[in-house]
Amino acid sequence: MGVGALDRLEGKRAIVTGAGSGIGRAIAIRLASESARVVLADLDEEAAESVAAGIDGETIVQRTDVTRAEDAEALVSRAVSEWGGLDVMVNNAGVGAAATIVDTSEEDYERMMDVCVRGTYLGMKYAIPAIREAGGGSVVNMSSVAALVGIADRALYCAAKGAILAMTRGAAVDHVGEGVRVNCIAPGTVDTPWIDRITSGYDDPAEARKNMQARQPHGRFVQPEEIAAMAAYLASDESASVIGACMIVDGGVTAR
Ligand SMILES: NC(=O)c1ccc[n+]([C@@H]2O[C@H](COP(=O)([O-])OP(=O)(O)OC[C@H]3O[C@@H](n4cnc5c(N)ncnc54)[C@H](O)[C@@H]3O)[C@@H](O)[C@H]2O)c1
Repeated sequence: MGVGALDRLEGKRAIVTGAGSGIGRAIAIRLASESARVVLADLDEEAAESVAAGIDGETIVQRTDVTRAEDAEALVSRAVSEWGGLDVMVNNAGVGAAATIVDTSEEDYERMMDVCVRGTYLGMKYAIPAIREAGGGSVVNMSSVAALVGIADRALYCAAKGAILAMTRGAAVDHVGEGVRVNCIAPGTVDTPWIDRITSGYDDPAEARKNMQARQPHGRFVQPEEIAAMAAYLASDESASVIGACMIVDGGVTAR
């Protein structure tokens, strides 16, 4: 069945953070293609606007810094005031840096922990009561294979994504009784602008790109649409018994 042939999210109201680029962009497009109404939240409002312009469905764009409590609260309030409630929250926005612990600056520590960990915490803090109020729904957090295996030059990023995985499990246990399912996705290396930023730092970016693809057992990057398909499943009622799970979409990296 091709994308667009499913209609699992009819009537659902969703928020996707980091929707202006890469994985978040693909998730917003996929949820909308399955008939959800989607709020596209991003620090880069222009990027989110341009993604929304390509979506044939009801959307809202909201400039949001996920590290700011007032922004997270305003984001959830916007969905509730415009659409009467919230059913799905995708906490996707995240940042990384390539370095060992020894070479990671405190600025990069603050930035990674702030966007990944505080951002996911605040997204859940304001979205969960709204989803509960709507009678239940789904939270999807963006972890990474970096939470599950050591990845060279990513130690602090591994810690940030590991925190998201642990937070997902804890929150899942706390809110399952309220009908709020909390899960996360652990992507392998996904072909997004993020990868271009990392490879541009190497002497030979094309070679670095090839090496990154080669380290995936299936020999290629994961596509953002493949992560979006998992997010749509987790957002839908088909995943009703999937609770506190870490859904790995990594081309086999963690199977080794
Ligand atoms: N690309 C990969 O290989 C990969 C692998 C595993 C996990 N992930 C995770 O997937 C998520 C998306 O990654 P991507 O590759 O699409 O990255 P990306 O850089 O292409 O997109 C990230 C988006 O998040 C937005 N953003 C950054 N900081 C923000 C903030 N404070 N508030 C709101 N929005 C903010 C950016 O403006 C951008 O539009 C991240 O959490 C990342 O850690 C990516």
